[in-house]
Amino acid sequence: RPLVVAIDGPSGSGKSSVSREVARRLHLAYLDTGAMYRALTWFCVSGGIDLTDAAAVEQAARDLVLDLSTTPQAEYVRVDGTDVTDAIREPAISSAVSAVATTLGARTELIRRQRELIEKHHRRMVVEGRDITTVVAPGAEVRMLLTASEEARLRRRGIQLGGTQNAEQLAAQVTQRDARDSTVVNFTQAADGVVTLDSSDLDFTETVDAALVIVTK
Ligand code: CDP
Repeated sequence: RPLVVAIDGPSGSGKSSVSREVARRLHLAYLDTGAMYRALTWFCVSGGIDLTDAAAVEQAARDLVLDLSTTPQAEYVRVDGTDVTDAIREPAISSAVSAVATTLGARTELIRRQRELIEKHHRRMVVEGRDITTVVAPGAEVRMLLTASEEARLRRRGIQLGGTQNAEQLAAQVTQRDARDSTVVNFTQAADGVVTLDSSDLDFTETVDAALVIVTK
């Protein structure tokens, strides 16, 4: 029987790690849609595509040859056979990704591929991103918005990035990117029927447990 678990949330909410663990525990496939936007951004940047040229970015989305892990046990992303798993997490990609993600034609193409992947996995998948509960899979069996206070999100992202950045650099990466992203997708408020899980005061294990309670309810 189908079980699509759609999880949206802002940067640093713990979305990816929590979603991956929920998938592992429930023996479901796993899709990190953010990795798709990052892979497309890497493809555009490495091909010298002007990110302000919407038609070119949209064409790149159609041309993108992407191989993305859909199991929670393995994390890999390949573009045209090149392993870009680490490269897509570089600051240069993080700061360019919003330009790509706000190109509507490119979104249309990636959303089409995301829906295709959900079907391919017989609708048994945890899918995480910014617009999953509202656009990609509004009919998901479980829809969740994972939030956390700005303070908690900055702290987590700082740890993730190795604690080498000052407060301003972090804010630039997290807060400004969220501000840019939210011009095309609203992931700051839960849509009708979407359950909000606030992880500000929860550690990783507590957040996973709370998410599992929501799924099995
Ligand atoms: O690093 P973080 O976890 O915050 O972001 P991510 O999940 O890796 O997503 C990277 C970027 O992809 C976001 O900043 C958005 O610009 C874009 N994105 C999107 O527009 N829609 C999605 N469903 C997922 C990601």
